[in-house]
Amino acid sequence: MSEHRPANRPLIIAIDGPAAAGKGTLARRLAGTLGLPYLDTGLLYRAVGRRVLDGGGDPADPTGAEAAARALRPADLDRPDLRGPEADAAATAVAAIPAVRSALLAFQRNFAGERGAVLDGRDIGTVIFPDARVKLFVTASLQARARRRWLELRAKGSDAELSTVETDMRARDALDAARAAAPLRPAPDAALLDTTELDADGAFRAAMSEVARRR
Ligand code: C5P
Repeated sequence: MSEHRPANRPLIIAIDGPAAAGKGTLARRLAGTLGLPYLDTGLLYRAVGRRVLDGGGDPADPTGAEAAARALRPADLDRPDLRGPEADAAATAVAAIPAVRSALLAFQRNFAGERGAVLDGRDIGTVIFPDARVKLFVTASLQARARRRWLELRAKGSDAELSTVETDMRARDALDAARAAAPLRPAPDAALLDTTELDADGAFRAAMSEVARRR
């Protein structure tokens, strides 16, 4: 056993993947079952984007976005307006700015603390916790993911078209994967989990067997 990887180090489960692949549902359930805190790191970028929009700024402007990231407070993550197309686009824009990512790094690392945690996002296994004991990269086809997001939006009363949701999602995934700062990609040691044909129970069972294998 290497001195950098003591057997009793906290259990960190890093879950990455594109939008609406099922990361959040899976992460929440793993955290509940294993008694670990859960952090949806997308909320950090969403809340930064919201702060910029509140001030009338452009989320793609590095100076304003960095200031918003530095001013972020835990209560910002509870805002009710962090979802929807405007918040999606603002989050993706601020997330491409390296200074924003640096400003949010310590919060994410501190969240796991001594206790461990389940975190989901785009760069948890590659940048935030490259030594995480369990890494999952959760994907699904674009069509399956867009349909899930569309059903969620409809359940909330939105009349968005499926084709618009799919177009927005394709664009957001492309920006996340192409950006220079912490692009979306599986860590070399991540287990791939394709949920296109899996329901939430199936994804949970597959993830728990990976947890058992790596623990
Ligand atoms: O996961 P969610 O869709 O809520 O994330 C919103 C946006 O925040 C993503 O499109 C991505 O641009 C960004 N993000 C990120 N790194 C993370 C989590 C989210 O770049 N760890």
